Amino acid sequence: MSNKPYTYDVSLTELNISHYDHHLIRRLSAMEGQFLDQSAHEVLSDEEDQIIYEVYQHRHPEVPGELLHGVSIIHPGVVGEEYFMTKGHFHAELDTAELYYCLQGEGMMVMETPEGEWAIERLIPNRALYVPPRWAHRSVNTSLTEDLITLFVYTGHAGHDYRTIEQLGFRKLVLHREGKPVIVDNPRQLQLDG
Ligand code: F6R
Ligand code: ZN
Repeated sequence: MSNKPYTYDVSLTELNISHYDHHLIRRLSAMEGQFLDQSAHEVLSDEEDQIIYEVYQHRHPEVPGELLHGVSIIHPGVVGEEYFMTKGHFHAELDTAELYYCLQGEGMMVMETPEGEWAIERLIPNRALYVPPRWAHRSVNTSLTEDLITLFVYTGHAGHDYRTIEQLGFRKLVLHREGKPVIVDNPRQLQLDG
């Protein structure tokens, strides 16, 4: 980590990030309870603890004024009918936004507020997506063959609240049905509403 200006290059042909100081890998086992079809998750995990997604990040002090940024890569695949995706989170400091820029692949950003408002935006190459303050966010790779690669930037003091999403998931799920992505209600959330 440096307090001097720096650059880094993201090469997409042979995925290579020229500089980073943290590489996070989340495998199937780290996603227990996140996918709707828990038995499909169990069967797949028994075969191989696959990598679902990876994040290359630049570390900076987690204070206002700093920007945390990096590249997130969600690999293609499904657990049952549900596409590979990130865990998703609210920012612990709810009033903080995040900017995403899609570099490669196709996907969706599933978002919701604590009040239950939801939104889903498509991610395609060269598209920027602004996640406003208060919106939880999860990236979903809707391709079965290609990585979904995004660059993200958010304020240093945002922090992460994973717990709320871990408990019930998002209100909406993105499933692979009849060869295409469809958005459905999350039955676990419906139980809560009912
Ligand atoms: C940071 C952020 C992204 C995600 C990354 C992995 O606030 O939104 O950098 O952290 O896409 O997703 P999670 O953190 O949900 O495992
Ligand atoms: Zn975030």
